[in-house]
Amino acid sequence: MPAAQTEKIIPVLTIDGPSGSGKGTISSRVADALGWHLLDSGALYRAVGFAASMAGLDLSDAEAVTRCAETTKISFRDPKDGGETRVIVNGVDATAEIRTETCGAAASAIAAIPSVRTALFDKQRSFRKAPGLVADGRDMGTVIFADAGHKVFLTASAEERAKRRYKQLKEKGLGVTLTTLLREIEARDVRDAERAVAPLKPATDAILIDSTGMSIDAVVAKVLALVRP
Ligand code: DC
Repeated sequence: MPAAQTEKIIPVLTIDGPSGSGKGTISSRVADALGWHLLDSGALYRAVGFAASMAGLDLSDAEAVTRCAETTKISFRDPKDGGETRVIVNGVDATAEIRTETCGAAASAIAAIPSVRTALFDKQRSFRKAPGLVADGRDMGTVIFADAGHKVFLTASAEERAKRRYKQLKEKGLGVTLTTLLREIEARDVRDAERAVAPLKPATDAILIDSTGMSIDAVVAKVLALVRP
């Protein structure tokens, strides 16, 4: 069977939504439960944002940042003893660095550049491997895997998302205030939703899940029920 056809029959579940909606945790739990691969597309944008910042690039210099997106080597490594997937950027473990709010803001800025998105297109598509893929991001169901058989748009109120991020960052020992986080989350939502290319919006065929007030287990169960009813 031709490679393109084989790819088409590999099932994909896309989970899109704004920052802090719980996509990361839910996608990882669902991928584990299904035994499918996982694509954390936000980590790719964060890795490029990180590499561009390290190189001292002006993040609004589309040409330089695109070259950076085309040449930065990004890989994911699962530690043998379980634990958090490591993100390796140009040979350096940048797992902690890419999760900072500064790097999130850099990622959001460079993600608005159309040629940066094009540079990451094939890399994201290459994650579609048997037995299946859970793809977490903003445009997984609308652009990258528009032909996916299962699409979820996960959301939660901005206040709830800020509280979740606050808790996560505190646990990692990073100093932030809830008010600052809420302001940053709202600003990033606007930027991600209003950009000209691949704006954050639900695919027309996505199932909307508002996780405000829902436990992680309840959301995981709801998503799994869509894939294997
Ligand atoms: O999901 P995240 O917070 O790690 O993503 C970081 C930034 O990357 C986010 O502000 C928008 C951008 N992003 C994107 O534009 N498209 C994706 N598929 C994933 C992330």
